[in-house]
Amino acid sequence: MKLLVTGGCGFIGSDFIRWILDARPDLQVTNLDSLTYAGNLENLAECEANPRYRFVRGSVADADAVDAAVREAEGIVHFAAESHVDRSLYGPVDFARTNVEGTVVLLEAARRHRLRRFVLVSTDEVYGSLAEEGTFTESSPLAPSSAYSATKAAGDLMALAYRRTFGLDVVITRGSNTYGPHQYPEKFIPLFITNALEDRPCPLYGDGRNVRDWLYVRDHTRGIWAAFEGGRSGEVYNLGGGNERRNVDVARAVLRAVGRPESLIQHVADRPGHDRRYALDTRKARAELGWAPDIPFERGLSDTVAWYRDHAEWVRRVKSGDYRTYYERHYGIGNRLEPGARSLEPEIQDEKPTSST
Ligand SMILES: NC(=O)c1ccc[n+]([C@@H]2O[C@H](COP(=O)([O-])OP(=O)(O)OC[C@H]3O[C@@H](n4cnc5c(N)ncnc54)[C@H](O)[C@@H]3O)[C@@H](O)[C@H]2O)c1
Repeated sequence: MKLLVTGGCGFIGSDFIRWILDARPDLQVTNLDSLTYAGNLENLAECEANPRYRFVRGSVADADAVDAAVREAEGIVHFAAESHVDRSLYGPVDFARTNVEGTVVLLEAARRHRLRRFVLVSTDEVYGSLAEEGTFTESSPLAPSSAYSATKAAGDLMALAYRRTFGLDVVITRGSNTYGPHQYPEKFIPLFITNALEDRPCPLYGDGRNVRDWLYVRDHTRGIWAAFEGGRSGEVYNLGGGNERRNVDVARAVLRAVGRPESLIQHVADRPGHDRRYALDTRKARAELGWAPDIPFERGLSDTVAWYRDHAEWVRRVKSGDYRTYYERHYGIGNRLEPGARSLEPEIQDEKPTSST
């Protein structure tokens, strides 16, 4: 089968491609990725020589690029997205363009070329925030809080509309917070690992009591493929790790795993609209897809720390350029940090402040 994967140069998409090329020798994979700051060809260096793998640079919002890629495919797994909630504070329009428009452009091409299956990789964040108790099921109402989650929810709704109106075979997965190797270090766990490895302060939002359910990337990858193979058309499947943790406890676990003191944790002003808690009911995926997460949090975390330790060059390249500009803008004095606070990045303090939009 010919599979089109979008956003395959990012964190989860690259794990999926590395895994599927190995697990399914009958598959040919085309990866359509526009290589934003989060897309990294190095993530798929080991696949480049594989004759069953092809990379095409292009945006999912570009109808011509999408048409050319979809015309040759039989199925799609759609990962491509602007994926970082914090960045959606600064550029919501980019999020709408990729996560909504890009998804619709792909759906439209899939309908035109009568693809067999379209899996949309979505997120538990579309459900919004939970109180202390309870879990989200697939029929919980959508109540997204950020421009990221709102645009992902819009993509989900368009996909379901294409199923109902045009009969396109669509399946949606809603994964919980994912961690593992190759994740761009703006996200919580790799941010803490890489800062701690450099003995730098680790910025923790608010009181640190927000709760997330952590899913190891390979477990997420397997769940997405299980949905592609076994999901019922028009259905949504929650993929959660069953590892609910308060952020402050994750922060401490990371510092223990890296071998650094808790004093590196630096509380910073909370993010606006920061959801308090996510937790997923995954009974449907377990019963219908035969999927269950496999990797315990402590093992996944220790493997992840080992990966970042062993890939210092990858980290160095990724944490330069755009990363530094974004970091200073987001965590700098006068934004997350009060005037007079200890800077999180002493060596970039002297750089010219970035313009704000
Ligand atoms: N990371 C998580 O914790 C998590 C959890 C649940 C769901 N998801 C979803 O999984 C998917 C992948 O997330 P990730 O963490 O791997 O993201 P990522 O930011 O690491 O990677 C996104 C990839 O998409 C590409 N991309 C962005 N805009 C594009 C466009 N217009 N056209 C083509 N390619 C484009 C980027 O270049 C990059 O390679 C996203 O849809 C995200 O919403 C992520």
